[in-house]
Amino acid sequence: MKTWKPDSWRSKKISQLPTYPDLKKLTQIEQRLSTYPPLVFAGETERLKTRLADVAAGNGFLLHGGDCAESFADLNTNTLQANFKILLQMAIILTYALKKHIVKIGRTAGQFAKPRSSDTETRDGVTLPSYRGDIINGFEFEKNARIPDPDRMERAYFHAAATLNLMRAFAQGGFADLEQIHAWNLDFIEKSPQGQHYKEITHRVQESMSFMNALGINGKNYSQIREIEFYTSHESLLLPYEQALTRQDSGNWYDCSAHLLWIGERTRQLDSAHIEFLRGVSNPIGLKCSSQLDPDELIRLIDLLNPQNNPGRLTLITRFGHEKIEEFLPGMIKKIQAEGKQVVWCCDPMHGNTLAASNGYKTRNFQHVLNEAQKFLAIHEAQGSYAGGVHFEMTGSNVVECVGGDQEITEDHLSSGLYETLCDPRLNANQALELAFKLIA
Ligand code: PEP
Ligand code: CO
Repeated sequence: MKTWKPDSWRSKKISQLPTYPDLKKLTQIEQRLSTYPPLVFAGETERLKTRLADVAAGNGFLLHGGDCAESFADLNTNTLQANFKILLQMAIILTYALKKHIVKIGRTAGQFAKPRSSDTETRDGVTLPSYRGDIINGFEFEKNARIPDPDRMERAYFHAAATLNLMRAFAQGGFADLEQIHAWNLDFIEKSPQGQHYKEITHRVQESMSFMNALGINGKNYSQIREIEFYTSHESLLLPYEQALTRQDSGNWYDCSAHLLWIGERTRQLDSAHIEFLRGVSNPIGLKCSSQLDPDELIRLIDLLNPQNNPGRLTLITRFGHEKIEEFLPGMIKKIQAEGKQVVWCCDPMHGNTLAASNGYKTRNFQHVLNEAQKFLAIHEAQGSYAGGVHFEMTGSNVVECVGGDQEITEDHLSSGLYETLCDPRLNANQALELAFKLIA
C-alpha cells in the first residue's frame, strides 16, 4: 500500500467537496490553520481509544450524541450548557441501569460540515447551491450566502475552540461534579414524567453518595466523582480543514480537530479520499454502516482502517432504519465475528428513520427511533455480540422537530415555530431522556 501523508487524499476521488471559487484564499486559510494550536491533544485521543477498547470488550457503554449540524449562531452558554446537561443526564440514567462506565462523546466543537444528496436546492423556481454547513456556506437561501467561502473554515476553528473551552470547563470545573446532580435537570422538563423519573434517580445517587462520603470516598479525593471525561467528534468531511489540523506526535499523526472522527454514509467508498485520509491518522474513528454496505466490503474497509485490528480504533455506527435492521444487522455481526474483527458496535437510530411529514417538514418518529435502538440491543444479544453504544441527534433545547413521545408531538406541531435544526430533526431534551429511560426499561 502507498505510504500515507496528510495530503495523500488529494490524489484520490473525492465527493462532497464544495467548489470554492477563490482557490488562492482557500490555500491561504489552510496555510494559516496549519499553524494554529491543535484543538485536542494526542494523549486525549489515545485515552479515548483505551476507553473504547474497554467498550469493545464489554466493559463500558458509549453515549455519542449532539447536533446534526452545529451552527455559528448557537455559540452561547445557554445552548451549550443545555446540550451538556442532557448528555450528563442520559449518562447518569445509563450508568445507573447498566452499572457500567459510560464513555461520553459529543457531536460538538466542530460538527459544522454536512454531506448533501443534491448539489443544489430549488425554491419557487430559484436554484442555488445546497447549504453544506456553516464551515462551508450560509444557511440563508440567498445567492451570496450560498457561495462556499474559505474564511468560514477559520471561523469554524475559533467557534470550535470556544465551544471546547466551555465543555472542558463544564467537565472539569465543578459543574459535572456528582454532588451537583440535582442541578443538571433542565427547568422546562422538571415537571414532566421524565423530569420526575430523573429526580428519583438523583435521590438514589445522592443516598449512595452520602453513604460513600461517610466512608471517606468523595469528590475531594476521587476525581471520578468530581469531574468527567468528555470527548468531541464530528464527521470528517471537509478534508482541507481536517488536513490543516493534522499534527505529528511521537511519530504518529493525529487529526487534532476532534477526538473522534467518523466517516459518513456518502463518503466511505474503498478508494475514496475520505478513507485515505482517515486510515493514516491515529484517532479513534467511526464508520457509518447502512444496508447499502456489503459485509465483504466492510471487511475490506476495516483492513484499510484498522490493519492491526486494535480494539478501540474502530466503532461501527449502524444506521439501517427500524424496518431494515433485522434484515441486515445479523449478517453484518456474523461476518465480523467470523473474521475476528475488534469493533465497538454503536447504533445510530436516527439516519435510517428520516421521514417527510405531510406538511413538508423533515422529521423522525420517536417510536421508530426507539424501535431501532431496542432491536439493536436484542439482535446483539441473540448473536452473542456486545451492543456497545448509541448515537443520537439531540439537543438540550425545547425544540419541536421529531414527532411522537410522551409529549405527543404531531406533524401539526412542527410548524409551531420551534423547528430550529439546520439539517436533520433532533430529539428534544424530553424525548432524549424518555429514550434513555425506555431503552433500559
Ligand atoms: C450524520 O451523522 O449527520 C449523517 C449525515 O449521517 P450518515 O452519513 O449516516 O447519513
Ligand atoms: Co444528521
